[in-house]
Amino acid sequence: MNSDIKTIWWNDENNAVMLIDQTKLPVACVITEVRTVKRLVEAIRRLEIRGAPALGIAGAFGVALSALSCASDAEFAETVAMDAALLKSTRPTAVNLAWGIDRVLRSMENLPPMTARLLAVTTAKNLSAEDEKGCMLIGRNGASLLPQIGTVLTHCNAGALACSTWGTALGIIRSARKMEKKISVVSCETRPLLQGSRLTAWELHHDGIPVTSIIDAEAAWLMRQGKIDCVVVGADRITKDAVFNKIGTYMHAVCARHHNIPFYVAAPASTFDIGAAEADIVVEERSRCEVAAFWGKPTVPEGVPVINYAFDATPLDLVSAIITETGVLYPPYDFSCLGHM
Ligand code: MRU
Repeated sequence: MNSDIKTIWWNDENNAVMLIDQTKLPVACVITEVRTVKRLVEAIRRLEIRGAPALGIAGAFGVALSALSCASDAEFAETVAMDAALLKSTRPTAVNLAWGIDRVLRSMENLPPMTARLLAVTTAKNLSAEDEKGCMLIGRNGASLLPQIGTVLTHCNAGALACSTWGTALGIIRSARKMEKKISVVSCETRPLLQGSRLTAWELHHDGIPVTSIIDAEAAWLMRQGKIDCVVVGADRITKDAVFNKIGTYMHAVCARHHNIPFYVAAPASTFDIGAAEADIVVEERSRCEVAAFWGKPTVPEGVPVINYAFDATPLDLVSAIITETGVLYPPYDFSCLGHM
């Protein structure tokens, strides 16, 4: 079992970021070249690139783009700082975005612009390579938790398309298939932007992994019928008391607990923010039009308000295990072993 899906990478010839434009999936797999911070900001806001680890890589490449595009040594520090702040503001909930940006900024600290430019690119490329290795390890660590034969329910997209490649939650499924486990996947469509039906279903089908798409509201009913063996999702941020992930994740965790089904979270160390608590985190709210229209037609009467949170928080007591690149954590969670925070 291998995957040829590469979501984001640096193009050395053009000094540009290359990414799969995820707004075009599943109709077409189109690769876009991004040469400026302004265009990258737009790509992140439009969800051309999305998913916490991929956002971390995009943020890191964004700082590299900024450093390379600022020709003036006198304005270098100020320009890069402003671009970094702009990039960070695009999506507030996925902690990896700020983490990736800060990591590249730190590597440039106190260096002359000429050296800083080179180091920014190298650090961002290293971060992307580490993400790939981390996903492989998460996959291996998590695959042992899955049954020999079974069905995994997942929500949103925590796959190759949300990372540099392979994926976190879907990386576990890929690794389990590599170990000859007969795992099939139920992918929740993930209203309103359909990352589950458009992206998860696309990438699993592309790799020949059996996947069935359901509407979000069907998950509890499938659990009740005994058709789901476990839930595996990714995360946008893990605080000391909760897992933030795509809206709807909390609902699956509550249903899984009710039906005695394991609920697993897969995430790299860069997703942990254990100095913070659930109450400290800003949950991104997105525009009304994502909910109030479907295929260009209104689905909510004009004048009726819409609440459109992009993420929710699942308390840690509903999480059966958290799978990271360094191992599997079980309740009661002690995050001190992760070391970097
Ligand atoms: O709004 P999105 O598509 O960026 O949301 C992504 C998710 O919620 C993913 O599950 C999460 O980032 C984990 S990706 C490994």
